[in-house]
Amino acid sequence: MTVIKVVFAIFIFESLKVGEVKCATVEELENLIEAATIEANSYEFPTNARMFQAKDNRIEDIDSYDFVIIGGGVAGSVIASRLSEIKKWSILVLEAGEVVTSEFNEMLGYTAFLALSDLSWGFRTVPQTTACLGFVNQSCRAFRARGMGGTSLINGAVYERGMPSTFDEWADITNDPTWSYDNVLRLFKKSEDFHLRNPNTPVEWKYHGSGGYLNVEQKIPEDFMTTLFLQGHRELGTDIIDYNGRSQLGASIFQLYTKHGRRQSVYDAFLKPVLRRSNLDIMTGSYVTKIEVQKLSKKAESVIFTRHGRTHRVNVKKEVILTAGVFQTPQILMLSGIGPKEHLQDMGIHVIENLEVGSQLKEDPLCQALYISTNMTRPVETLKERLQQFLNGEGSLTQAYSTSGVAFQKSQFEEQHYADIEFIAASLQKSAFDVRYAGWRNETYETAWGNSTNVIAINIHNVNPRSSGTVRLNSADPFDYPLIDFNMMSDPEGHDMAVLYEGVNRVFELLQTPSFQSINPEYRGRPLPGCEDYQFLSREYWYCFLRQTCTAAFHVRGSCPMGADPNERAIVDSRLRVFGVKKLRVADSSVLPTSMSGHPVGTIIMIAEKAAETIKCDYLPYLNIFSKEL
Ligand SMILES: Cc1cc2nc3c(=O)[nH]c(=O)nc-3n(C[C@H](O)[C@H](O)[C@H](O)COP(=O)(O)OP(=O)(O)OC[C@H]3O[C@@H](n4cnc5c(N)ncnc54)[C@H](O)[C@@H]3O)c2cc1C
Ligand SMILES: *[C@@H]1O[C@H](CO)[C@@H](O)[C@H](O)[C@H]1NC(C)=O
Ligand SMILES: *[C@@H]1O[C@H](CO)[C@@H](O)[C@H](O)[C@H]1NC(C)=O
Ligand SMILES: *[C@@H]1O[C@H](CO)[C@@H](O)[C@H](O)[C@H]1NC(C)=O
Ligand SMILES: *[C@@H]1O[C@H](CO)[C@@H](O)[C@H](O)[C@H]1NC(C)=O
Repeated sequence: MTVIKVVFAIFIFESLKVGEVKCATVEELENLIEAATIEANSYEFPTNARMFQAKDNRIEDIDSYDFVIIGGGVAGSVIASRLSEIKKWSILVLEAGEVVTSEFNEMLGYTAFLALSDLSWGFRTVPQTTACLGFVNQSCRAFRARGMGGTSLINGAVYERGMPSTFDEWADITNDPTWSYDNVLRLFKKSEDFHLRNPNTPVEWKYHGSGGYLNVEQKIPEDFMTTLFLQGHRELGTDIIDYNGRSQLGASIFQLYTKHGRRQSVYDAFLKPVLRRSNLDIMTGSYVTKIEVQKLSKKAESVIFTRHGRTHRVNVKKEVILTAGVFQTPQILMLSGIGPKEHLQDMGIHVIENLEVGSQLKEDPLCQALYISTNMTRPVETLKERLQQFLNGEGSLTQAYSTSGVAFQKSQFEEQHYADIEFIAASLQKSAFDVRYAGWRNETYETAWGNSTNVIAINIHNVNPRSSGTVRLNSADPFDYPLIDFNMMSDPEGHDMAVLYEGVNRVFELLQTPSFQSINPEYRGRPLPGCEDYQFLSREYWYCFLRQTCTAAFHVRGSCPMGADPNERAIVDSRLRVFGVKKLRVADSSVLPTSMSGHPVGTIIMIAEKAAETIKCDYLPYLNIFSKEL
């Protein structure tokens, strides 16, 4: 086992050396862009994880650790950072991917290209019947990244927490008042280092933290579209707000967890500063296939993983913490005998604990194809100019997907006070790359554009849907990808469709405001294939349009929800312990028991902070959790 330790030491040394200094020139960035564009345009998605398979069946034991964290993604990075504060604990992180240091990845303007690279698992759903119909094979993309930092390596870096009352509801659901907003606000603030860069939008300072690991800021300068979007909302009587303050409802600009306009993965933010801790080991290139749970005591005892063609077992003294993300966390549980009994029996897997793992998968529909033609003139900037701005920490390359402005609203169907529609403005150009990225059917994409020019899109995002889907095993083979079924917009009452249709109408209302009228907005899409039988632009037509064009927002959650009672399909308790199994917690996007109305990373980081704090309280009851010196 010394072999791995040595390899590992070299790896740490390398990763400390590279990536610390940012020194790329405009020309070097141009070269990186060219290489990544070529890769993305020819990238073939893997359809399984067989590249991680070992060469033989031999299992080599390695030294044991107090805590083994499976997955070094968003949640795993935070938990590893916080647990390794306790010097006497040994921590091992097992991550399938590698450490990423390219400055290309720091340009948010090229975010979409990263999903078509080696960082991407390349998941997609099984064929759908109620959404994603205008996409190849009626299948939605289900992007997730591998590598230290997980999906924060390829995502939009939007920082959002959701409505405060969400967490009071979680306290009710779990019967545990420590989840109430008053308590978790402290944890949100602990992570954060907030910097106001755009003074035109309000900030409620008492909800923000400073000095935490995660830099949060806004893009500057404010662009024309953003100003227009906010002005249009003012004309409709919508408040301009800090959506991470007292209420989420209103219009605003995105808060991003970038630093000086560059992507910072959650690994960069939380783990990189503490890599020298000698009690923390990170083994990249490690693919976990199983957690071994003792059949009688139901204690998680060890973790099996492959690395560089060999299979290893690591024994766990205190706990296994599962943070492999919303698809692979349930996959690993099921492969380990924890899951729906009948499904596991069908797969030929010995059942250790019968739990409804993977049965309440939640994804938000995002409808991006409401392209609006305008007479707006775009600023003409060369790539060199945009890169120069990037090097100064500003400009269009410092925000993903050309977005400009966000609004959270309540539809007429929302009975409580949660936001259920999020609008995101973007200015767009037609591109063959978009077709590849989203997996569009060409004809659908072409007709949705029609003859539109100078296009803006107001994306409609249902952030509190009722429909749910599933994650299931394809087989007992750990190198097969799991079967993912989002099943969006399928609730029998038609609630989710009604919310989205109201979203369409509200977009047209917004276009009627004096601000938007000043750019002469016009809808110039053509009837979509599959919707020809409906009267163009009638309610029935828009319903058809939505089923064709709405796809996944990549805000998937809830595959192993937290709750009070496993008989009501909860998988973990309020301390994130898997029901019926000892020494095993789940602490990633899988555990969200309800939607938090929007972009989940901020909330997942809070959950991870809380998991680490809970574990410290369980094992070190006399520790003062408020003390900085641990
Ligand atoms: C394109 C895109 C854009 C997004 N934009 C935003 C945004 O702007 N704001 C926002 O809040 N959210 C956004 N999200 C969602 C957000 O990134 C995810 O919700 C979040 O990263 C989930 O965190 P996690 O810790 O649950 O999992 P992840 O961050 O996905 O981490 C899981 C880790 O486990 C590893 N792993 C998996 N299986 C194994 C195994 N068997 N063995 C070893 N390691 C394994 C993976 O490689 C990965 O590193 C976006 C997502 C996508 C795909
Ligand atoms: C679409 O489905 C066909 C038939 O099942 C399959 O051969 C093809 O690979 C699929 N395409 C994609 C992009 O998944
Ligand atoms: C879609 O169009 C692109 C570019 O026009 C082309 O390369 C691709 O083959 C087309 N795909 C299909 C499925 O027709
Ligand atoms: C775009 O198409 C519409 C009909 O779909 C037509 O009325 C309009 O003149 C066209 N505009 C241009 C610029 O071609
Ligand atoms: C765009 O159209 C609006 C409304 O017709 C008009 O007032 C405005 O001057 C036009 N702008 C440009 C740049 O043509």
